[in-house]
Amino acid sequence: MAILNEFGSSWTETKLSILKKYISFYTTALSKQPFTLVYIDGFAGTGECRIKLSDGRKVTIPGSAKIALQNEPPFKYLIFIEKDGKKVAALKELCEKKNARYDTFIFHADANKELARVCEFLDKKSMRAVAFIDPFGMEIHWKTLENLAATKCVDMIFLFSLSGLYRQVERKIKEDFDEHKATSLDRFLGTQNWRDEFYEEEKQTNLFGEPEGYRRKLDYMGMLEFSKKRMAEIFPFISDPLLLPQKGAPQFALFLAVSNGNPKAFALAKRVYADITNKYE
Ligand SMILES: C[S@@+](CC[C@H](N)C(=O)[O-])C[C@H]1O[C@@H](n2cnc3c(N)ncnc32)[C@H](O)[C@@H]1O
Repeated sequence: MAILNEFGSSWTETKLSILKKYISFYTTALSKQPFTLVYIDGFAGTGECRIKLSDGRKVTIPGSAKIALQNEPPFKYLIFIEKDGKKVAALKELCEKKNARYDTFIFHADANKELARVCEFLDKKSMRAVAFIDPFGMEIHWKTLENLAATKCVDMIFLFSLSGLYRQVERKIKEDFDEHKATSLDRFLGTQNWRDEFYEEEKQTNLFGEPEGYRRKLDYMGMLEFSKKRMAEIFPFISDPLLLPQKGAPQFALFLAVSNGNPKAFALAKRVYADITNKYE
């Protein structure tokens, strides 16, 4: 393996352990049904993760791509999307060995663009899929979440970047919102409403009696709640967020979102995901 995905700390292990348990449950639960099972990794990395443990040791653990490849029973199709060419080369090496039980597809592409194509390929009648959406920050666009939700056959495990969101939502706005930050928030949240939901006008006024800009009125939990409500508008089921890391200031929130509106399908997913994540709370 030439390169590693260098990032993360011990909570990365928690995230990947949840993914591992969920996909194992998923393919086991559906193994007797006539569906083609698909795994989609939007931010695939290399298949290896280098993490720093709380005692300072650095270890290499299997990343999401490797976990998915080793999952039993296997997915029929595994789709890996990664925009970094070197990581794509590592992924190709990882998938080199042909396996009669599954096919792999590796796309050197932007996740938002490629997932739009992948979602069109998914067929609700004959396929069921798990999508792992594991970006560093706010790279995923709302439109992509809409595309995944519209398939009605994808369960999505989504690492929501709380720190990314918090960084874009400035505490005080002097005159108007920074255009670059505002565009990134519009794209991530799929709405402009955050301007009213996250901010209030300053009580202090200038010489002309006009408010002196805006101040943030929500803390990160408030913003997370807002984002969860947004996702609940497009997914029939969205789990409670698991905050990561669990100690100290959270940087991410892990969600399960189910696009299949069949109450039986999402009741089971909901129960299993709650069982899996409860162990980490
Ligand atoms: C947090 S890492 C993913 C780790 C991986 N899921 C694992 O468990 O090993 C995020 C990955 O997304 C890739 N990436 C960043 N922006 C992307 C984009 N717009 N489209 C596709 N991949 C992207 C990065 O190169 C990086 O490998």
